[in-house]
Amino acid sequence: MNRRMLLAYILAPAFASIGLALIGYGDRSRRVSRPLGMIHLPPPRYDSNVSIEHALKVRRSVREYEDKPLTLEQVSQLAWAAQGITDKRYGFRTAPSAGATYPLEIYIVVKKDGVEGLPEGIYHYLPREHVLELIKSGDYSRELMYACLDQEWVGDAAINIVITAIYERTTWRYGERGRIRYVHMEVGHVGQNIYLQCVSLGLGCVVIGAFHDEEVKKIIGVDEEPLYVIPVGVKKGGWP
Ligand SMILES: Cc1cc2nc3c(=O)[nH]c(=O)nc-3n(C[C@H](O)[C@H](O)[C@H](O)COP(=O)(O)O)c2cc1C
Repeated sequence: MNRRMLLAYILAPAFASIGLALIGYGDRSRRVSRPLGMIHLPPPRYDSNVSIEHALKVRRSVREYEDKPLTLEQVSQLAWAAQGITDKRYGFRTAPSAGATYPLEIYIVVKKDGVEGLPEGIYHYLPREHVLELIKSGDYSRELMYACLDQEWVGDAAINIVITAIYERTTWRYGERGRIRYVHMEVGHVGQNIYLQCVSLGLGCVVIGAFHDEEVKKIIGVDEEPLYVIPVGVKKGGWP
């Protein structure tokens, strides 16, 4: 890569955010309602006793969970693993993104007593501030389970992470290739980050692709495309 290409690539996020702001697709989510409150998350940890190699070796999809709440620290860690900012200067995140256009949004559906000290509701993660905004109060885990073709693990999990996409953030630069390839590749990166982070935290999760799109959109209350629903709970018996 020559110097000019490198410079263009490094400056891409800045141009992307200016362009997106101009055409109205900035990093705002497309929520129907206004936030009801803010939760400041504890800072994420950058180390653990579980090696990346071990996490890769033992990772499995987990569909049975202990009837135990998650801690706010664990929720913070999961949100950070999904989309946390790891380079404040350019806004780069834990998962790669085509041209740093960041088309994905993270929502957390918290069941009643699902997280210590966090009321049941639907929360939206703001990576830059590392906060959760409460966008809906109440326990929506049963409704979400019905929307996911009655998959029980959705109803059983302490939380469900819902990943949605705003395709236009990527397609305005890459056209149709952004829609049919890049955004979907990105959600795979985020899903794997969440899987590996779960192993390190003693949690279990499974990525869910089988759901009624319109029902999930209605539950979350967004005009964005849901790509994954990821139930997360304390793994029964722990990891080897
Ligand atoms: C795109 C995609 C969609 C999936 N959808 C579902 C789903 O709707 N329900 C489910 O229980 N598992 C779902 N899975 C998880 C797979 O069943 C699981 O990854 C596979 O059985 C391999 O097991 P492992 O993840 O433990 O290696 C999905 C996985 C992927 C990659």
